[in-house]
Amino acid sequence: MDGRVNLSQVAMRFGDFTAIQPTSLEIASGEFFSFLGPSGCGKTTLLNMISGFLTPSEGLVAIGGVDMTRVPVNRRPTAMIFQNLALFPLMSVYRNIEFGLEVRGVDRKKRREKADELLDLVALGGSGDKPVAELSGGQKQRIAIARALAVEPRVLLLDEPLSALDLKLRQHMRTELKAIQRKTGITFIYITHDQGEALTMSDRVAVMCDGRIQQVADPMTLYRQPRTDFVAGFVGENNRFPGRVTAVDGGMVTLDAGLPAPLRGAAASPLEPGDEATLYVRPEQWRVGSASDSSLPFGGVIQAEHFEGAWLTLEIALEQGRTVRAHVPQALESDGVESSFKVGSACRLDYSPRGTLVLPGVERGQSDEEGADVAATA
Ligand SMILES: Nc1ncnc2c1ncn2[C@@H]1O[C@H](COP(=O)(O)OP(=O)(O)OP(=O)(O)O)[C@@H](O)[C@H]1O
Ligand SMILES: [Mg+2]
Repeated sequence: MDGRVNLSQVAMRFGDFTAIQPTSLEIASGEFFSFLGPSGCGKTTLLNMISGFLTPSEGLVAIGGVDMTRVPVNRRPTAMIFQNLALFPLMSVYRNIEFGLEVRGVDRKKRREKADELLDLVALGGSGDKPVAELSGGQKQRIAIARALAVEPRVLLLDEPLSALDLKLRQHMRTELKAIQRKTGITFIYITHDQGEALTMSDRVAVMCDGRIQQVADPMTLYRQPRTDFVAGFVGENNRFPGRVTAVDGGMVTLDAGLPAPLRGAAASPLEPGDEATLYVRPEQWRVGSASDSSLPFGGVIQAEHFEGAWLTLEIALEQGRTVRAHVPQALESDGVESSFKVGSACRLDYSPRGTLVLPGVERGQSDEEGADVAATA
């Protein structure tokens, strides 16, 4: 069963508007592949070209090595799960799952066998006679998966299928979806604007912005080695320091970003003194200490404090007016120790340059002069 998907220079235009720039990509058979990006970046458009709901303006779509560009939806080896699931609420679970098989003329006994097998797979064995309307959100979700799998697709396309569920159920369904994908070995192509979903389930993720893929990588690489400013800001959170390179030694770069001390970071690509570059420091990479700790090179004042459960997020205004976000462990307070991180109080901070990243260039239109260099959080 070859569930490879190849996109060769596919592009989609709606009138004058280009929703998808020419894009080439190979998704491996049996891969859990996600497209991650903000609303309107073109995720559904791209998926619809794979499913056949849209014919690309340019380029080719192949599945299992066979050109599908002009093949209609119902003749492709794909199935799709939509955000609203599109189940038949008044029909039984069995009828919902067996519907696609009935249309294809599969006999009654075979249909029922297949439905029972799939109900076991999605952990809903024995509920075939229930009307769908009586199921919970998570159960409906699993019926939608069973129904999509009934027609034995080689590729399952999922367009934000968990967005209607509450947080706990969403997290639970991530594990379930991943397990179902492993068991069946089907290629899953998953669309989401939720980075947590993409990072926890996927073998690889394509991060999209404005109709273009910015980076394709496994989740760890995306987080540790984002290749563009957009990815650095969209996947996880980052503090940006645009500046000019003053020295380069080995893989480490020294940057003048207008702060009292020079900044150092690990270069993602070759840089020369004089080049414009941006250092990215994640909130968890800061070490925050008391105002009297002179071993820490940067001084600041705590502007705000957000309780996040396991950690505190501090917004710290550095001496030059730039604001950074830092995570500090939450354990201190529960130990009965008075926290030194109070809004309005001074602190000092540092980070370890080794784990950080310096990318070439500075993003114009970012808020350098406003002093708020915190990258957007997804
Ligand atoms: N049929 C269409 N005609 C004209 N423009 C369209 C059409 N379909 C999509 N677009 C535009 O293409 C862009 C991408 O839309 P798309 O639905 O692919 O985004 P998305 O990434 O799936 O967003 P969301 O996360 O909100 O679902 C949007 O600007 C949208 O307005
Ligand atoms: Mg969409």
